[in-house]
Amino acid sequence: MIDFELTDEQRLIRQTARDFADGEIVPRARENDRNEHFDTELVQQIADMGFLGAIVPEEYGGRGVDYRTYALIVEEIGRGCSAMRTVVSVVTSLVCSSIVRWGSEEQKQEWLPQLCSGESLGCFGLTEPDTGSDAANLKTRAKEVDGKWRISGGKMWISLGNYSKLALVFAQTDPEKKHKGLACFLVPTDQPGFTTQAIHHKLGLKGSDTAELALDDVEGDLMGEVGDGFKIAMSALDSGRYSVAAGCVGICQGSLDASIAYSKERTQFERPIGSFQLVQEMIADMVVQTEAARGLVWRAGWLKDQGKPSTTETSIAKLYATEAAVKCADLGIQVHGGSGYVDDYPVERYLRDARVTTLYEGTSQIQKLIIGRAYTGLNALVP
Ligand code: CAA
Repeated sequence: MIDFELTDEQRLIRQTARDFADGEIVPRARENDRNEHFDTELVQQIADMGFLGAIVPEEYGGRGVDYRTYALIVEEIGRGCSAMRTVVSVVTSLVCSSIVRWGSEEQKQEWLPQLCSGESLGCFGLTEPDTGSDAANLKTRAKEVDGKWRISGGKMWISLGNYSKLALVFAQTDPEKKHKGLACFLVPTDQPGFTTQAIHHKLGLKGSDTAELALDDVEGDLMGEVGDGFKIAMSALDSGRYSVAAGCVGICQGSLDASIAYSKERTQFERPIGSFQLVQEMIADMVVQTEAARGLVWRAGWLKDQGKPSTTETSIAKLYATEAAVKCADLGIQVHGGSGYVDDYPVERYLRDARVTTLYEGTSQIQKLIIGRAYTGLNALVP
């Protein structure tokens, strides 16, 4: 059975991540958000702490921690700044965990150490301008020419796309085969034909890099077999959605912490506002959602650590934690009143940053369809 008691090692890692978030991430979050600055120095510090690729085996440069411990790290970084948490989630879960699971020995040795050390960033090229939820329906094409794979197409909303040395690119090799024709390629970005364009004016995650990618006959190194592409994407999302959920627990906790502190220092009617029942109701709602989200994340992590199937439980955790983050951040603003509407306090940034989490790595609606299908055995995705 799942044990909610953390080991001494897990406590130590959580405390280290907490101290790092409070000491290094929190003080820079507001300025990076205001300036839309992707803070590569801070990314390097995160890597130096061993927080990039923490679940990667030590022989490939990672820390070899289990999924439960990974969630503790991601929660703390998510509490500090979701833009930095996105870096951890994309590099660790979407890119590194895919290479660990599907890469050849040579591919692992080539890429994992440089991704874990922060020497290189990696991005996950699945989504396209016309392809979001219907992830199997890719227009990017790959063809084999003289024993080498050439890829052409476009990718959209790609986190870290402008800064990555490696792009995991999903492409169709034979449209008639539908999802069974998809393949995944390791694409070094420093080659002719690979161009990126930054996407600006986002609602939140302003300190995170987001790009549109264009591939014009670039070379890719096939990972896994032709036809494995969709499974690779889905298994990457099993890890990525978990990481997003853990980061959202951090947003919930951060909203709660800020609200408790503010409700004790702010007085109205000659009393701290935290002594009013309606304010305590908001605090209680945040506590319950934070604890429930964390419990669901830990359950999904426990299943992963046991090597048991966890796709449905990951979707449950992702759905609940992301929606809870939006609600807790919103309640946090309500507790702070007018002060919560400006960036003197973190709650308005929490709300703007939380908002994307119910969209990316599978919308809340997609998570509900995955959960509904698992429980009924009926596929509501078929038109
Ligand atoms: N692991 C491994 N294989 C899996 C899997 C998993 N978790 N889930 C499904 N598969 C396999 C199935 O076994 C099946 O294999 P066979 O063909 O051999 O039987 C195959 O994949 C097809 O599976 P489904 O029937 O479940 O596929 P579907 O088309 O019915 O449903 C979907 C797919 C759930 C809707 C899926 O398309 C989906 O999750 N869509 C959302 C896409 C998404 O999350 N995009 C996020 C982009 S990434 C991002 O946001 C990154 C960023 O930068 C932040």
